[in-house]
Amino acid sequence: MCGIVGYIGKKNASDFLLEALKKLEYRGYDSAGIAICDTKINVIKKAGRINVLKKAISDAKDFCGNSGIGHTRWATHGKPSDINAHPHVGRSGKIAIVHNGIIENYIVLKKSLIKKNIKFISETDSEIIAAMIDYLYEDDIFSAVIKTVCSLEGSFALGILCSDFPDKIIAVKKESPIIIGIGDNENYIASDIYAFADRTKHIYRLDECEIAVLGASEVNFYNFQGKKIEKNMAEIDWEIGSSEKDGFEHFMLKEIMEQPEAIKKTLLLRCVKNDIVINELNKSYLESLNKICIVACGSSYHVGMAARYAFEKIVRIATNVELASEFRYRSPIIDKNTLVIIISQSGETADSLAALRESKRRGAKTLAIVNVVGSSIASEANFVVYTWAGIEVAVATTKAYSAQLSVMYALSLYISKVLNRISKEKFEVYFQDLISLPNLIEEVLKSKDQVFKIAQKYSQADNVFFIGRGVDYAVCMEGSLKFKEVSYIHSEAYAAGELKHGTISLVENGTIVIALATDPRLFEKTISNIREVRARGALCIAITTKENFNAISSVADDILCVPKIHSIMMPSLTVIPLQLFAYYVALLHKRDIDKPRNLAKSVTVE
Ligand code: M6R
Repeated sequence: MCGIVGYIGKKNASDFLLEALKKLEYRGYDSAGIAICDTKINVIKKAGRINVLKKAISDAKDFCGNSGIGHTRWATHGKPSDINAHPHVGRSGKIAIVHNGIIENYIVLKKSLIKKNIKFISETDSEIIAAMIDYLYEDDIFSAVIKTVCSLEGSFALGILCSDFPDKIIAVKKESPIIIGIGDNENYIASDIYAFADRTKHIYRLDECEIAVLGASEVNFYNFQGKKIEKNMAEIDWEIGSSEKDGFEHFMLKEIMEQPEAIKKTLLLRCVKNDIVINELNKSYLESLNKICIVACGSSYHVGMAARYAFEKIVRIATNVELASEFRYRSPIIDKNTLVIIISQSGETADSLAALRESKRRGAKTLAIVNVVGSSIASEANFVVYTWAGIEVAVATTKAYSAQLSVMYALSLYISKVLNRISKEKFEVYFQDLISLPNLIEEVLKSKDQVFKIAQKYSQADNVFFIGRGVDYAVCMEGSLKFKEVSYIHSEAYAAGELKHGTISLVENGTIVIALATDPRLFEKTISNIREVRARGALCIAITTKENFNAISSVADDILCVPKIHSIMMPSLTVIPLQLFAYYVALLHKRDIDKPRNLAKSVTVE
């Protein structure tokens, strides 16, 4: 989603700003812009990719200054266009702002400013912020900012420039992240640490309703009442990982191939000497639990769907899996005996964050499974277990999904052991399966050329159905999402047993059905479902274990095999050919694989 960057120092700000915006491209955007302050504010903003903006800046004369703010916009209010792009400037031309989030009361505020003869030129909610600061500003920019932010409702991270103070930039946070980076006689702001992680390891995270005023060599912090506050500087002491393609054509393929490493790193601190260590959750707390709710969005929700089988089978505590966007507005029955597990790669997903807050409000304890250290969800949860997948650049998640799954298996094993719900022998078997995942995934990845050939054969499909039972169905949900988001081809995931209840009417000659059949208990039943769709003309790609190859060969047109492992961990293996299939079909269609249309990496608005 939208990205904010800012610079104050001795160099030309636009060099850093362009470089930093480029790093935030992966979040998803449709337009970008920069405001630079010298003696006056200059703005260049363009619909389209950063390269369009870069060209416009290099064509412009005198676009320089030592302070500046930049933005990548992902349209919410108003179409992608030069005018709707940020920065927005107040009518005096002295104030420029960039905004992430949504201003919920912007219509009321806009009407009241229009009555004061203030004109608006964009369709955005964000322009109101520039207009209001500008209207309230006489000679004290700080007080104009405070009055404005106190009258805004909704979520906002802001970067603000005022031409009367070219040696300052201002950052504001309410419900949308913003981070301050401390350099050597230069300082930065960004909505995402990757923007400046190669320049400094020293950061401040703004907390709720805080303001930072940055000069080149000092930063001061305030609350929304204007009172100065002290904050502790943090040091980034974790490895962010490479955000280069390292010879791969796309980040998505690179990240698919990085999955064994991502799981290894994630489990390194958790699987120690034949045991699982998650000391964040102690025995007496776990003994009080009578319910687990897993809450997330998109692929992270699919991780929850797959992990539920492990929790139900070995933890034996009632486990619900919920979409955060629904959960937050229901009246969930949760209390102090419920553990709410929020899964989020970015740690910034607006619905997941709201679900976390709602859970805490209802007295439940929250555990965050997060890939970004210090993100909002990590900061607000009662307990945190990090995944160590490294930076994931492709919008379509692959390695973060796999790392999350591995943590969930480890967690289910840990809880079942602490609560004495699993025998020593069974624990040992599952544990060995868990630590063998990186090697087994490595083996599955070797089938990538075979998947490419299958993708070539079926790439012209209009509709693809993903069917499976039990844990295979949970993987179908992820396979279908991955496929549609990068290939732009319609697909659906169905519990194979549900087909007869309506969906099978869509199956006709040439319909592509991808069937997952790995669970030995349900294998024959899925085979029957494959026969049913084939009898109606469907073409079937089956994904199963090597042992089942012969049994499935009479009903499938193509077969992809994975090694055998206990069913509850099978999703970690079966998801790999589905990710590769999605990738190769998208490649054959020449899609914008790493940044699919309309999508954003981090969904920070509702
Ligand atoms: O950062 P999160 O894990 O909270 O993001 C949730 C979803 O937006 C995300 O998983 C999305 O579905 C994936 N990018 C799809 O590949």
